[in-house]
Amino acid sequence: MKSYPPSRPSVAPPNGVSRRWMLKGAVALTALGGVPARAALSDYASAYRPLAPRGHVQAAGTPQQEKFVARQRSFSLMDGQIQSDNFWSFTDDLLPVIRVPQHTPLTVTLKNELAEHTAIHWHGIRLPNAMDGVPYVTQPPIEPGDEFTYEFSPPDTGSFFFHPHCNTVEQLGRGLFGALIVTGDETEAYDDEILCVVRDWRTTAAGDLLPVGTDEGASRSGTFGNLRTTNLTQSPAYQTVAQGDVRVRLMNLDNTRVMEVGIEGAEAAIIAIDGNPVSPFPLSSWRLGPAMRLDIVMRMPTQGTVKLFDYFSAQPVLLAAFNPTGAPLRKKAFDPAPLFKSDIPTPDLTSARKVRFDFSASAQTQALQDYAAEGVPWADELCLTDKTFWAINKTAWPEDGHRQAPAPLATLRKGETCVMELVNQTPHMHPIHMHGHTFKYLSSNKRPLPPHHTDTVLLTPKERVKVAFVADNPGDWMFHCHIIEHQDTGMMGMIRVVES
Ligand code: C2O
Ligand code: CU
Repeated sequence: MKSYPPSRPSVAPPNGVSRRWMLKGAVALTALGGVPARAALSDYASAYRPLAPRGHVQAAGTPQQEKFVARQRSFSLMDGQIQSDNFWSFTDDLLPVIRVPQHTPLTVTLKNELAEHTAIHWHGIRLPNAMDGVPYVTQPPIEPGDEFTYEFSPPDTGSFFFHPHCNTVEQLGRGLFGALIVTGDETEAYDDEILCVVRDWRTTAAGDLLPVGTDEGASRSGTFGNLRTTNLTQSPAYQTVAQGDVRVRLMNLDNTRVMEVGIEGAEAAIIAIDGNPVSPFPLSSWRLGPAMRLDIVMRMPTQGTVKLFDYFSAQPVLLAAFNPTGAPLRKKAFDPAPLFKSDIPTPDLTSARKVRFDFSASAQTQALQDYAAEGVPWADELCLTDKTFWAINKTAWPEDGHRQAPAPLATLRKGETCVMELVNQTPHMHPIHMHGHTFKYLSSNKRPLPPHHTDTVLLTPKERVKVAFVADNPGDWMFHCHIIEHQDTGMMGMIRVVES
Protein backbone atom coordinates (compact mmCIF):
# COMPACT_ATOMS: atom_id res chain seq x y z
CA MET A 1 0.00 0.00 0.00
CA LYS A 2 1.16 3.58 0.38
CA SER A 3 4.05 4.68 2.56
CA TYR A 4 3.27 6.13 5.92
CA PRO A 5 4.94 8.49 8.33
CA PRO A 6 6.21 6.62 11.38
CA SER A 7 3.33 5.31 13.39
CA ARG A 8 2.76 5.25 17.11
CA PRO A 9 0.60 2.92 19.08
CA SER A 10 -3.05 3.90 19.34
CA VAL A 11 -3.95 5.58 22.57
CA ALA A 12 -7.03 4.60 24.51
CA PRO A 13 -10.06 6.57 23.39
CA PRO A 14 -10.46 9.67 25.53
CA ASN A 15 -13.28 10.04 27.98
CA GLY A 16 -13.77 6.38 28.64
CA VAL A 17 -16.28 5.93 31.40
CA SER A 18 -15.06 3.58 34.04
CA ARG A 19 -18.21 2.93 35.99
CA ARG A 20 -20.32 -0.05 35.13
CA TRP A 21 -23.42 0.81 33.36
CA MET A 22 -27.03 -0.10 33.45
CA LEU A 23 -29.39 -0.15 30.58
CA LYS A 24 -33.09 0.06 30.50
CA GLY A 25 -34.73 -2.37 28.18
CA ALA A 26 -34.44 -6.03 27.64
CA VAL A 27 -31.14 -6.47 25.85
CA ALA A 28 -28.65 -7.09 28.63
CA LEU A 29 -25.05 -6.15 28.06
CA THR A 30 -22.45 -8.25 29.74
CA ALA A 31 -20.25 -6.34 32.10
CA LEU A 32 -17.10 -7.22 30.21
CA GLY A 33 -16.44 -5.76 26.83
CA GLY A 34 -19.90 -4.43 26.22
CA VAL A 35 -20.84 -7.36 24.06
CA PRO A 36 -24.59 -7.73 24.15
CA ALA A 37 -26.21 -10.98 25.01
CA ARG A 38 -28.07 -12.52 22.14
CA ALA A 39 -31.27 -10.60 21.61
CA ALA A 40 -34.56 -12.32 20.99
CA LEU A 41 -37.07 -10.81 18.66
CA SER A 42 -39.48 -10.24 21.55
CA ASP A 43 -36.94 -7.86 23.04
CA TYR A 44 -37.86 -5.38 20.36
CA ALA A 45 -41.61 -5.54 20.94
CA SER A 46 -43.05 -2.12 21.43
CA ALA A 47 -46.14 -0.60 22.94
CA TYR A 48 -45.59 2.51 20.89
CA ARG A 49 -47.73 3.59 17.97
CA PRO A 50 -46.84 1.72 14.75
CA LEU A 51 -45.27 3.23 11.67
CA ALA A 52 -47.56 5.68 9.95
CA PRO A 53 -48.61 4.70 6.43
CA ARG A 54 -47.84 7.34 3.92
CA GLY A 55 -50.95 9.42 4.30
CA HIS A 56 -50.04 12.20 1.95
CA VAL A 57 -47.84 12.75 -1.04
CA GLN A 58 -45.32 15.37 -0.17
CA ALA A 59 -44.97 18.19 -2.64
CA ALA A 60 -41.42 18.74 -3.86
CA GLY A 61 -39.66 21.83 -2.57
CA THR A 62 -37.87 24.47 -4.59
CA PRO A 63 -34.97 22.94 -6.51
CA GLN A 64 -31.79 23.15 -4.49
CA GLN A 65 -28.24 23.72 -5.69
CA GLU A 66 -24.91 23.18 -4.02
CA LYS A 67 -21.40 23.87 -5.21
CA PHE A 68 -18.59 21.75 -3.83
CA VAL A 69 -14.88 22.23 -4.42
CA ALA A 70 -12.88 19.18 -3.39
CA ARG A 71 -9.46 20.26 -2.30
CA GLN A 72 -6.86 20.18 0.40
CA ARG A 73 -7.69 22.44 3.34
CA SER A 74 -6.41 23.22 6.82
CA PHE A 75 -8.54 22.53 9.84
CA SER A 76 -7.92 22.44 13.53
CA LEU A 77 -10.13 20.10 15.57
CA MET A 78 -10.40 19.29 19.24
CA ASP A 79 -8.68 22.44 20.49
CA GLY A 80 -5.75 21.83 18.21
CA GLN A 81 -5.25 18.16 19.07
CA ILE A 82 -5.77 17.58 15.38
CA GLN A 83 -4.15 20.30 13.35
CA SER A 84 -3.38 19.64 9.76
CA ASP A 85 -3.03 21.24 6.36
CA ASN A 86 -3.74 17.83 4.90
CA PHE A 87 -7.47 17.51 5.25
CA TRP A 88 -9.38 17.02 2.04
CA SER A 89 -12.94 18.34 2.07
CA PHE A 90 -15.81 19.24 -0.24
CA THR A 91 -16.40 22.69 1.30
CA ASP A 92 -14.78 25.17 3.67
CA ASP A 93 -16.86 23.43 6.29
CA LEU A 94 -15.26 20.04 6.93
CA LEU A 95 -18.67 18.49 7.51
CA PRO A 96 -21.13 19.82 4.93
CA VAL A 97 -24.77 19.04 5.67
CA ILE A 98 -27.35 19.10 2.89
CA ARG A 99 -31.00 19.23 3.94
CA VAL A 100 -33.46 18.73 1.15
CA PRO A 101 -37.18 17.89 1.11
CA GLN A 102 -38.09 14.51 -0.36
CA HIS A 103 -38.69 14.50 -4.16
CA THR A 104 -36.97 17.90 -4.52
CA PRO A 105 -34.49 18.26 -7.38
CA LEU A 106 -31.01 18.50 -5.89
CA THR A 107 -28.10 19.65 -8.03
CA VAL A 108 -24.57 19.34 -6.70
CA THR A 109 -21.67 20.50 -8.84
CA LEU A 110 -18.34 19.10 -7.78
CA LYS A 111 -15.19 20.86 -8.92
CA ASN A 112 -12.10 18.77 -8.37
CA GLU A 113 -9.10 20.73 -7.14
CA LEU A 114 -7.35 17.71 -5.71
CA ALA A 115 -4.28 16.29 -7.39
CA GLU A 116 -6.15 13.05 -8.10
CA HIS A 117 -9.52 12.05 -9.50
CA THR A 118 -12.59 11.80 -7.34
CA ALA A 119 -16.43 11.54 -7.43
CA ILE A 120 -19.35 11.56 -5.00
CA HIS A 121 -21.39 8.51 -4.12
CA TRP A 122 -24.74 9.23 -2.43
CA HIS A 123 -24.94 6.40 0.05
CA GLY A 124 -28.36 4.83 0.46
CA ILE A 125 -30.13 7.00 -2.10
CA ARG A 126 -32.12 5.06 -4.72
CA LEU A 127 -31.10 7.22 -7.66
CA PRO A 128 -30.46 6.70 -11.36
CA ASN A 129 -27.29 4.74 -12.03
CA ALA A 130 -25.54 7.60 -13.84
CA MET A 131 -25.73 9.71 -10.64
CA ASP A 132 -24.33 7.02 -8.33
CA GLY A 133 -20.80 8.39 -8.33
CA VAL A 134 -18.66 5.30 -8.86
CA PRO A 135 -15.65 6.11 -11.06
CA TYR A 136 -15.34 3.90 -14.16
CA VAL A 137 -18.58 2.05 -13.32
CA THR A 138 -21.26 4.76 -13.41
CA GLN A 139 -19.26 7.78 -14.62
CA PRO A 140 -15.80 8.73 -15.78
CA PRO A 141 -13.64 9.79 -12.85
CA ILE A 142 -13.65 13.56 -12.29
CA GLU A 143 -10.07 14.40 -13.15
CA PRO A 144 -8.14 17.22 -11.44
CA GLY A 145 -9.46 20.54 -12.72
CA ASP A 146 -12.71 19.02 -13.99
CA GLU A 147 -16.29 19.35 -12.82
CA PHE A 148 -19.25 17.03 -12.68
CA THR A 149 -22.85 17.81 -11.86
CA TYR A 150 -25.01 15.40 -9.90
CA GLU A 151 -28.72 15.86 -10.28
CA PHE A 152 -31.41 13.76 -8.65
CA SER A 153 -34.55 14.01 -6.53
CA PRO A 154 -34.21 11.86 -3.41
CA PRO A 155 -37.13 9.40 -3.42
CA ASP A 156 -36.88 8.43 0.25
CA THR A 157 -36.81 10.50 3.42
CA GLY A 158 -34.15 9.93 6.03
CA SER A 159 -30.59 10.33 7.23
CA PHE A 160 -28.07 9.64 4.47
CA PHE A 161 -24.51 10.65 3.66
CA PHE A 162 -22.03 10.94 0.83
CA HIS A 163 -18.40 10.11 0.15
CA PRO A 164 -16.03 9.36 -2.75
CA HIS A 165 -15.76 5.85 -4.17
CA CYS A 166 -12.16 5.50 -5.28
CA ASN A 167 -9.09 5.59 -3.09
CA THR A 168 -11.76 5.78 -0.41
CA VAL A 169 -9.49 4.76 2.44
CA GLU A 170 -7.59 7.97 1.91
CA GLN A 171 -10.27 10.29 0.45
CA LEU A 172 -12.86 9.55 3.14
CA GLY A 173 -10.08 9.15 5.69
CA ARG A 174 -8.88 12.70 5.06
CA GLY A 175 -12.35 14.18 5.32
CA LEU A 176 -14.22 13.98 2.00
CA PHE A 177 -17.68 13.30 3.37
CA GLY A 178 -20.92 14.96 4.39
CA ALA A 179 -24.46 14.36 5.64
CA LEU A 180 -27.53 14.33 3.42
CA ILE A 181 -30.81 14.74 5.27
CA VAL A 182 -33.98 14.19 3.29
CA THR A 183 -36.88 15.75 5.16
CA GLY A 184 -40.61 15.05 5.05
CA ASP A 185 -40.98 11.95 7.23
CA GLU A 186 -42.38 13.52 10.39
CA THR A 187 -46.05 12.98 11.24
CA GLU A 188 -45.75 15.37 14.18
CA ALA A 189 -42.93 17.81 14.75
CA TYR A 190 -40.39 16.86 17.38
CA ASP A 191 -39.25 19.56 19.78
CA ASP A 192 -35.62 19.58 18.70
CA GLU A 193 -33.23 17.78 16.39
CA ILE A 194 -29.56 16.92 16.70
CA LEU A 195 -27.20 15.52 14.11
CA CYS A 196 -24.44 13.36 15.60
CA VAL A 197 -21.75 12.36 13.13
CA VAL A 198 -19.28 10.05 14.76
CA ARG A 199 -15.89 9.20 13.36
CA ASP A 200 -12.26 8.74 14.29
CA TRP A 201 -9.12 10.39 13.06
CA ARG A 202 -5.72 8.81 12.90
CA THR A 203 -3.00 11.29 13.73
CA THR A 204 0.65 11.69 14.53
CA ALA A 205 1.60 12.82 18.06
CA ALA A 206 1.75 16.36 16.65
CA GLY A 207 -1.84 16.10 15.43
CA ASP A 208 -1.19 15.74 11.71
CA LEU A 209 -3.34 13.28 9.81
CA LEU A 210 -2.06 9.80 9.11
CA PRO A 211 -3.39 7.63 6.30
CA VAL A 212 -6.08 5.39 7.69
CA GLY A 213 -5.00 2.22 5.94
CA THR A 214 -2.44 -0.33 7.07
CA ASP A 215 -1.90 -3.85 5.78
CA GLU A 216 -2.29 -5.13 9.28
CA GLY A 217 -5.65 -3.43 9.66
CA ALA A 218 -6.85 -4.26 6.17
CA SER A 219 -6.30 -7.96 6.76
CA ARG A 220 -8.14 -7.90 10.11
CA SER A 221 -10.87 -5.57 11.45
CA GLY A 222 -9.49 -2.46 9.80
CA THR A 223 -7.23 0.32 11.07
CA PHE A 224 -8.68 2.33 13.93
CA GLY A 225 -8.14 6.00 14.50
CA ASN A 226 -6.66 7.17 17.78
CA LEU A 227 -8.92 10.20 18.31
CA ARG A 228 -12.69 9.93 18.35
CA THR A 229 -14.93 12.82 17.42
CA THR A 230 -18.63 13.61 17.47
CA ASN A 231 -19.49 16.41 15.04
CA LEU A 232 -15.75 17.01 14.70
CA THR A 233 -15.35 17.91 18.34
CA GLN A 234 -13.81 15.71 20.92
CA SER A 235 -16.18 13.06 22.19
CA PRO A 236 -18.22 13.78 24.17
CA ALA A 237 -19.80 16.69 22.41
CA TYR A 238 -22.05 18.64 24.76
CA GLN A 239 -25.25 20.06 23.42
CA THR A 240 -28.22 21.85 24.90
CA VAL A 241 -31.60 20.67 23.69
CA ALA A 242 -35.25 21.45 24.33
CA GLN A 243 -37.07 19.66 27.14
CA GLY A 244 -39.29 17.61 24.95
CA ASP A 245 -39.07 14.84 22.37
CA VAL A 246 -35.77 15.26 20.60
CA ARG A 247 -34.75 13.56 17.38
CA VAL A 248 -31.15 12.39 17.15
CA ARG A 249 -29.76 11.54 13.72
CA LEU A 250 -26.77 9.38 14.52
CA MET A 251 -24.35 8.54 11.72
CA ASN A 252 -21.33 6.27 11.96
CA LEU A 253 -19.15 7.73 9.21
CA ASP A 254 -15.94 6.10 10.30
CA ASN A 255 -13.89 4.01 7.86
CA THR A 256 -13.56 1.19 10.33
CA ARG A 257 -15.22 1.34 13.73
CA VAL A 258 -18.27 -0.73 14.70
CA MET A 259 -20.19 0.73 17.64
CA GLU A 260 -22.87 -0.47 20.00
CA VAL A 261 -24.86 2.62 20.89
CA GLY A 262 -27.22 3.30 23.74
CA ILE A 263 -28.70 6.22 25.63
CA GLU A 264 -28.72 6.70 29.38
CA GLY A 265 -30.76 9.20 31.32
CA ALA A 266 -33.78 9.34 29.02
CA GLU A 267 -36.38 7.09 27.51
CA ALA A 268 -35.41 6.57 23.91
CA ALA A 269 -36.86 4.81 20.87
CA ILE A 270 -35.48 3.90 17.46
CA ILE A 271 -37.61 5.47 14.72
CA ALA A 272 -35.50 4.84 11.60
CA ILE A 273 -32.65 2.55 10.53
CA ASP A 274 -30.33 3.71 7.75
CA GLY A 275 -32.87 6.44 7.13
CA ASN A 276 -35.77 4.01 6.71
CA PRO A 277 -38.66 4.52 9.14
CA VAL A 278 -39.53 1.64 11.48
CA SER A 279 -42.32 1.16 13.96
CA PRO A 280 -40.76 2.82 16.99
CA PHE A 281 -39.30 0.42 19.53
CA PRO A 282 -37.33 1.10 22.70
CA LEU A 283 -33.60 1.63 22.23
CA SER A 284 -31.67 -0.57 24.56
CA SER A 285 -28.57 -0.84 22.43
CA TRP A 286 -28.00 -1.06 18.70
CA ARG A 287 -25.00 -2.08 16.71
CA LEU A 288 -23.86 0.36 14.10
CA GLY A 289 -21.13 -0.52 11.61
CA PRO A 290 -19.37 1.99 9.37
CA ALA A 291 -21.88 3.79 7.08
CA MET A 292 -24.86 2.81 9.22
CA ARG A 293 -27.26 5.39 10.62
CA LEU A 294 -29.85 5.39 13.35
CA ASP A 295 -32.66 7.86 14.08
CA ILE A 296 -33.66 8.02 17.70
CA VAL A 297 -36.28 10.00 19.58
CA MET A 298 -35.59 10.64 23.26
CA ARG A 299 -37.71 12.30 25.90
CA MET A 300 -35.52 14.86 27.57
CA PRO A 301 -35.83 14.94 31.35
CA THR A 302 -36.45 18.25 33.09
CA GLN A 303 -33.01 18.02 34.59
CA GLY A 304 -29.91 15.89 34.40
CA THR A 305 -27.66 15.04 31.49
CA VAL A 306 -28.63 12.49 28.87
CA LYS A 307 -25.71 10.47 27.57
CA LEU A 308 -25.07 8.71 24.30
CA PHE A 309 -22.60 5.88 24.72
CA ASP A 310 -20.65 3.48 22.58
CA TYR A 311 -20.51 0.29 24.63
CA PHE A 312 -18.44 -1.64 22.15
CA SER A 313 -15.07 -1.12 23.74
CA ALA A 314 -13.49 -2.33 26.95
CA GLN A 315 -14.84 0.80 28.60
CA PRO A 316 -17.98 2.50 27.35
CA VAL A 317 -17.15 5.69 25.49
CA LEU A 318 -19.30 8.76 25.97
CA LEU A 319 -20.00 10.08 22.47
CA ALA A 320 -22.33 12.96 23.30
CA ALA A 321 -24.10 14.49 26.27
CA PHE A 322 -27.32 16.47 26.08
CA ASN A 323 -28.43 19.00 28.66
CA PRO A 324 -32.06 20.11 28.78
CA THR A 325 -32.96 23.76 28.44
CA GLY A 326 -36.18 25.79 28.47
CA ALA A 327 -39.53 24.80 29.86
CA PRO A 328 -40.86 21.23 29.87
CA LEU A 329 -42.77 20.68 26.65
CA ARG A 330 -44.40 17.28 27.09
CA LYS A 331 -46.61 16.07 29.90
CA LYS A 332 -47.96 12.77 28.57
CA ALA A 333 -46.03 9.53 28.85
CA PHE A 334 -43.38 8.93 26.19
CA ASP A 335 -45.04 7.70 23.03
CA PRO A 336 -42.78 8.80 20.17
CA ALA A 337 -44.52 9.96 17.03
CA PRO A 338 -43.90 7.38 14.29
CA LEU A 339 -42.58 8.51 10.93
CA PHE A 340 -44.30 8.14 7.58
CA LYS A 341 -43.48 4.88 5.87
CA SER A 342 -41.10 4.95 2.89
CA ASP A 343 -42.32 3.82 -0.52
CA ILE A 344 -39.84 1.00 -0.95
CA PRO A 345 -41.14 -1.67 -3.34
CA THR A 346 -42.39 -4.79 -1.58
CA PRO A 347 -40.43 -7.94 -2.44
CA ASP A 348 -42.47 -10.88 -3.72
CA LEU A 349 -40.92 -13.72 -1.78
CA THR A 350 -42.88 -16.44 -3.57
CA SER A 351 -41.19 -15.91 -6.91
CA ALA A 352 -37.86 -14.58 -5.69
CA ARG A 353 -34.51 -15.37 -7.24
CA LYS A 354 -32.29 -16.70 -4.49
CA VAL A 355 -28.62 -15.79 -4.49
CA ARG A 356 -26.01 -16.67 -1.93
CA PHE A 357 -22.93 -14.59 -1.23
CA ASP A 358 -20.02 -15.86 0.81
CA PHE A 359 -17.78 -13.27 2.37
CA SER A 360 -14.38 -14.73 3.06
CA ALA A 361 -10.69 -14.15 3.32
CA SER A 362 -8.73 -14.59 0.15
CA ALA A 363 -5.09 -14.79 -0.77
CA GLN A 364 -4.69 -14.64 -4.51
CA THR A 365 -7.90 -14.96 -6.41
CA GLN A 366 -8.88 -16.34 -9.73
CA ALA A 367 -10.06 -12.94 -10.89
CA LEU A 368 -6.69 -11.36 -10.34
CA GLN A 369 -4.93 -14.28 -11.97
CA ASP A 370 -7.18 -13.81 -14.97
CA TYR A 371 -6.30 -10.15 -15.20
CA ALA A 372 -2.63 -10.98 -14.94
CA ALA A 373 -2.94 -13.69 -17.60
CA GLU A 374 -4.59 -11.29 -19.98
CA GLY A 375 -1.91 -8.73 -19.29
CA VAL A 376 -4.55 -6.23 -18.29
CA PRO A 377 -3.19 -3.31 -16.31
CA TRP A 378 -5.78 -3.83 -13.62
CA ALA A 379 -4.44 -1.19 -11.31
CA ASP A 380 -5.32 2.41 -11.84
CA GLU A 381 -2.24 4.27 -10.62
CA LEU A 382 -4.21 6.38 -8.20
CA CYS A 383 -6.11 3.63 -6.54
CA LEU A 384 -3.32 1.14 -6.59
CA THR A 385 -3.80 -1.57 -4.06
CA ASP A 386 -1.39 -4.39 -4.39
CA LYS A 387 -2.91 -6.49 -1.64
CA THR A 388 -5.95 -8.67 -1.73
CA PHE A 389 -7.17 -9.99 1.57
CA TRP A 390 -10.90 -10.50 1.00
CA ALA A 391 -13.35 -11.90 -1.48
CA ILE A 392 -17.03 -12.32 -2.25
CA ASN A 393 -17.84 -15.78 -3.64
CA LYS A 394 -14.09 -16.33 -3.94
CA THR A 395 -13.77 -13.37 -6.29
CA ALA A 396 -11.79 -10.35 -5.23
CA TRP A 397 -12.20 -6.95 -6.74
CA PRO A 398 -9.84 -4.44 -5.21
CA GLU A 399 -11.00 -0.91 -5.51
CA ASP A 400 -8.58 -0.07 -8.28
CA GLY A 401 -10.44 -2.67 -10.29
CA HIS A 402 -13.21 -0.10 -10.79
CA ARG A 403 -11.37 0.46 -14.02
CA GLN A 404 -11.45 -3.15 -15.06
CA ALA A 405 -14.79 -4.34 -13.88
CA PRO A 406 -15.00 -8.11 -13.53
CA ALA A 407 -18.17 -9.96 -14.44
CA PRO A 408 -21.12 -9.13 -12.20
CA LEU A 409 -21.62 -11.42 -9.20
CA ALA A 410 -25.27 -11.65 -10.22
CA THR A 411 -27.44 -10.38 -13.04
CA LEU A 412 -31.05 -9.63 -12.18
CA ARG A 413 -33.97 -8.76 -14.40
CA LYS A 414 -35.65 -5.47 -13.74
CA GLY A 415 -38.65 -5.97 -11.48
CA GLU A 416 -37.69 -9.34 -10.07
CA THR A 417 -37.35 -9.93 -6.37
CA CYS A 418 -33.98 -11.11 -5.15
CA VAL A 419 -33.46 -12.85 -1.83
CA MET A 420 -29.83 -12.65 -0.83
CA GLU A 421 -28.29 -14.91 1.70
CA LEU A 422 -25.23 -13.13 3.07
CA VAL A 423 -22.84 -15.59 4.67
CA ASN A 424 -19.95 -14.38 6.77
CA GLN A 425 -17.20 -17.01 6.63
CA THR A 426 -14.80 -14.92 8.68
CA PRO A 427 -14.25 -14.12 12.35
CA HIS A 428 -14.61 -10.39 11.56
CA MET A 429 -17.61 -8.11 11.17
CA HIS A 430 -18.58 -6.85 7.72
CA PRO A 431 -21.16 -4.13 7.04
CA ILE A 432 -22.43 -5.13 3.59
CA HIS A 433 -23.83 -2.39 1.38
CA MET A 434 -25.49 -2.42 -2.03
CA HIS A 435 -26.04 0.64 -4.18
CA GLY A 436 -29.26 1.80 -5.79
CA HIS A 437 -31.63 -0.42 -3.77
CA THR A 438 -32.84 -0.79 -0.20
CA PHE A 439 -32.93 -4.19 1.47
CA LYS A 440 -35.78 -5.59 3.47
CA TYR A 441 -34.18 -7.44 6.39
CA LEU A 442 -35.65 -10.95 6.64
CA SER A 443 -33.75 -13.11 9.11
CA SER A 444 -30.49 -14.04 10.79
CA ASN A 445 -29.12 -17.26 12.24
CA LYS A 446 -27.59 -15.38 15.16
CA ARG A 447 -29.04 -11.99 15.89
CA PRO A 448 -32.72 -11.59 15.07
CA LEU A 449 -33.60 -7.95 14.52
CA PRO A 450 -37.06 -6.41 14.22
CA PRO A 451 -38.52 -5.88 10.73
CA HIS A 452 -36.73 -3.02 9.05
CA HIS A 453 -35.24 -1.78 5.80
CA THR A 454 -31.55 -1.10 5.47
CA ASP A 455 -28.87 -0.25 2.92
CA THR A 456 -26.01 -1.66 4.99
CA VAL A 457 -26.32 -5.01 6.76
CA LEU A 458 -23.87 -5.70 9.55
CA LEU A 459 -22.73 -9.32 9.45
CA THR A 460 -21.27 -10.43 12.76
CA PRO A 461 -18.70 -13.27 12.74
CA LYS A 462 -20.08 -16.41 11.10
CA GLU A 463 -23.52 -14.85 10.80
CA ARG A 464 -25.92 -15.60 7.93
CA VAL A 465 -28.48 -12.95 7.11
CA LYS A 466 -31.26 -13.00 4.55
CA VAL A 467 -32.44 -9.82 2.89
CA ALA A 468 -34.78 -9.19 -0.03
CA PHE A 469 -35.28 -6.39 -2.51
CA VAL A 470 -36.97 -5.67 -5.80
CA ALA A 471 -34.36 -5.11 -8.50
CA ASP A 472 -36.20 -2.15 -9.95
CA ASN A 473 -33.27 0.10 -10.78
CA PRO A 474 -31.34 -0.84 -13.93
CA GLY A 475 -27.58 -0.52 -13.99
CA ASP A 476 -24.36 -1.84 -12.54
CA TRP A 477 -24.47 -1.46 -8.77
CA MET A 478 -21.60 -1.82 -6.35
CA PHE A 479 -21.96 -4.39 -3.61
CA HIS A 480 -19.28 -4.35 -0.93
CA CYS A 481 -18.13 -4.29 2.64
CA HIS A 482 -18.12 -0.79 4.14
CA ILE A 483 -15.08 -1.34 6.29
CA ILE A 484 -13.24 0.64 3.68
CA GLU A 485 -10.00 -1.29 3.94
CA HIS A 486 -11.92 -4.53 3.29
CA GLN A 487 -13.60 -2.99 0.28
CA ASP A 488 -10.26 -1.72 -0.91
CA THR A 489 -8.60 -5.13 -0.62
CA GLY A 490 -11.14 -7.29 -2.39
CA MET A 491 -14.50 -7.47 -0.60
CA MET A 492 -16.34 -5.74 -3.38
CA GLY A 493 -18.40 -6.85 -6.32
CA MET A 494 -21.03 -5.66 -8.72
CA ILE A 495 -24.64 -6.61 -9.25
CA ARG A 496 -26.19 -5.95 -12.62
CA VAL A 497 -29.86 -5.14 -13.11
CA VAL A 498 -30.93 -5.42 -16.75
CA GLU A 499 -34.12 -4.29 -18.46
CA SER A 500 -36.10 -7.45 -18.93
CU1 C2O B 1 -21.09 4.19 1.14
CU2 C2O B 1 -20.24 1.88 -2.10
O1 C2O B 1 -20.62 3.03 -0.48
CU1 CU C 1 -15.50 -6.25 5.77
